[in-house]
Parts: sequence; C-alpha cells; structure tokens
Amino acid sequence: MESSENTPLNESITQSWINREKSVHIQFYRRLPVVFERGRGCYLYDVEGNRYIDLVAGIAVCALGHCHPKLVERLKTQLEKLMHTSNLFYTIPQIELAEKLREITGMDFFFFCNSGTEAVEASLKVSRKVTGRKKFVAFTGSFHGRTMGALSVTWKEMFRKPFLPLVEPVEFAEFNSVESLKKKVDENTAAVIVEPIQGEGGVNVADEDFLNAVFELKEKYGYLVIFDEVQTGFGRTGRWFAKDHFNLQPDVMAMAKGMGSGFPVGGIGVSGEVAEKLGSGEHASTFGGNPLACSAALATIEVIEEEKLVENAKKMGKVLKDALYEVFGNSRGMGLMLAVNCEGAFELVNRALKSFLLINATSESSLRFVPPLVIGKEEIEIARDTLSGIV
Ligand SMILES: Cc1ncc(COP(=O)(O)O)c(C=O)c1O
Repeated sequence: MESSENTPLNESITQSWINREKSVHIQFYRRLPVVFERGRGCYLYDVEGNRYIDLVAGIAVCALGHCHPKLVERLKTQLEKLMHTSNLFYTIPQIELAEKLREITGMDFFFFCNSGTEAVEASLKVSRKVTGRKKFVAFTGSFHGRTMGALSVTWKEMFRKPFLPLVEPVEFAEFNSVESLKKKVDENTAAVIVEPIQGEGGVNVADEDFLNAVFELKEKYGYLVIFDEVQTGFGRTGRWFAKDHFNLQPDVMAMAKGMGSGFPVGGIGVSGEVAEKLGSGEHASTFGGNPLACSAALATIEVIEEEKLVENAKKMGKVLKDALYEVFGNSRGMGLMLAVNCEGAFELVNRALKSFLLINATSESSLRFVPPLVIGKEEIEIARDTLSGIV
C-alpha cells in the first residue's frame, strides 16, 4: 500500500496486540502505538497495511534497509547449512568475517559477540587484563550499554543509579574538553572509552583536538584507547568507521548495530600488541560469532561495498542534513547520523507517526535521524515535506 493510501490506525486491531503485549511483557519500554509486521528497504508496514518511511532503522541498525534480498538469501543458505556449533570448534564464516574486518577496520584481531553492550564489556575486560590497571575514564553524554560494565561508563545517572554499586573506579571527563580530560587520566587509567560521535547523547561530534589529546595523553600514561563504534560503524557516518574521519586507530574498537543490518551480531577489534597479551579462557561467548551471525555480517559488508553505501551515506547525509536545516533551522552530525534541536521532540515523534514517518527523540529537545544507508532523495523529500507539515 502506498503512503497516500494509508488509513488511520484501526483501534481494535492495533490495540488488541498492544493489550496482549502489556499483559505479558515487563514494561521496560515505552513503545509507540504501532505494531509492525514487515519491512522492505526504507519502509515498514504495520499490521493494518500502512506504510511508513523509516528514519530510525532499528536505532541505526538496518544499514541495508529492511529485508535486503541479498542478506535474506545469504541467511537462508547459511541456515540450511549450519547455524551454531559453539566456539569449541572452528567455523568458516567466522574466519572469513575476521579477515574482512581486518581489511575495513585496520584492527588486527577480533572477537565476536551478540550486541553492543557485550562488545563494550569485552573491551573493558581486555583493557584491565592488558594494562593490569583498574580505572576507566569515560565522558559526559556517553552511552555504552546496559550491562553492569557498560553501564558503569554510561553517563546518565538515571540509568546507573538504581544498580549501584557498579564497576569502579570510573571517572567522567567533560566531552570535548581537553582540560577536563587532563584532570582525569593518570598512571592508574586502564582505558579511555569514547564514542567519536556520541549517539544516544544526541549526536555530538568529537572535536579533532580533543580526540588527538586522548591519544597524546595515552603516550604519557600508557592506557588503552577504546573507540565505541557501535553506533557509528559500518558506513553510518559516510566513512566505514567514524575513526576514519580523524585518521586515528584505537587499541580496541567495539562494534555492533549496523554490523548485521538487523541480525544481532557484535564484536571487538584489537591491535596486534593488545592481542599478544590476551589468552585462552579470559573471555568467551556461547553464541558469539556463530555461522549465521557471521554470514549476516559478511553479507552486510559485501552489499555495503557493492552498492556503494558508504558513499551514499555521505551523499544522502548531506541532502538530509540540508533538508533538516530547512525545516528546523539547525542540523548536526555526519553522514546519515544526524540530529536537530527542537523543543517538544517526543510529541513530534508521535505526530510524525500519525503521518506515517518514523523518527526518534534522544531527549525532549533533540531529534535523531539514522535512516537505512540505502535511503534516496525521494524518501528524504517526502520526509522533509511531512516534517514541515507537523513542526
Ligand atoms: C555507542 C553505543 N554503544 C553501545 C550500545 C549498546 O548496544 P546494545 O543496545 O546493542 O547493547 C549502544 C546502543 O545504543 C550505543 O549507541
């Protein structure tokens, strides 16, 4: 059904699913009142057949859009061959994925897991093991995940407070402040963990001087630098990884989200020097790096290459950024990781939903736009016109 044929949601169909959800799910999520059934490219379809333009992409996940035929085909083939063996054995897609990642990340060795927060946990553990030190330095506005370690380096107190005590010691320096960073790092620091572009914090791009200082102080104190590229990775910002905008190579890199374009897969990449100090039994995952997940990641990377989606993210990112500027009078971010300041952001998300447009608010005053990397001018124009009509 075309968006022009969309009809207002039928209370009874949608509401009855919502009621069923409420009767069986822990209410951790405050969901929008829509039930999705299928997706294709930049579009999602609800249970009533309405079509929505998706500028959320499963929170910066569905890089290839929904159900890309090449990804689906690759998964089907792998499903019929082999899904899971555990890491007690070698499997081919895992080896091929690590080889491919070495090529596109410049990192040397890899470990695979199932989510962003697990990738961060692994990064933190690796840093303690390799340096023999305990302290982590993170930044105001950071978000690294919800498990205990990742939560410990996540800025928002609201997320951390109910679960204290967390991993200690952790110190938060001000994002983009070299002076603040200097005050927090020392010879006890195991790692500095930073998102080159903060995602959940509202799409805040790191200053070049600030990131350079993270590396200069590393020389002095000998800590590891962890880049959390969970949200920024796999073409999202118009380069393969956000680190490429800055020509910086971290000691440890966490990745997930876009990696499997919707299939849950995450991982870390480390330098050869770090890998040398790591050994058997120090970390593990039953499901991590299973053949199905690795095939999803391999197919995702291949399609990104074939369809030149890193370039498309850069090109369409500019088109979308300009369109957002036209509507909101401001816009920020890189590639297809964009945001605008706008009061009443949550309410605007609801209004957009009623106009069959999916957007996301990271706070009451900030909207985030992280569409599939396959987005084209046509969808951006429809989105711009819809937004102009409801702002
Ligand atoms: C930068 C960053 N790190 C880590 C995470 C946690 O990832 P996940 O939700 O897959 O555990 C997120 C999720 O939003 C993220 O944006």
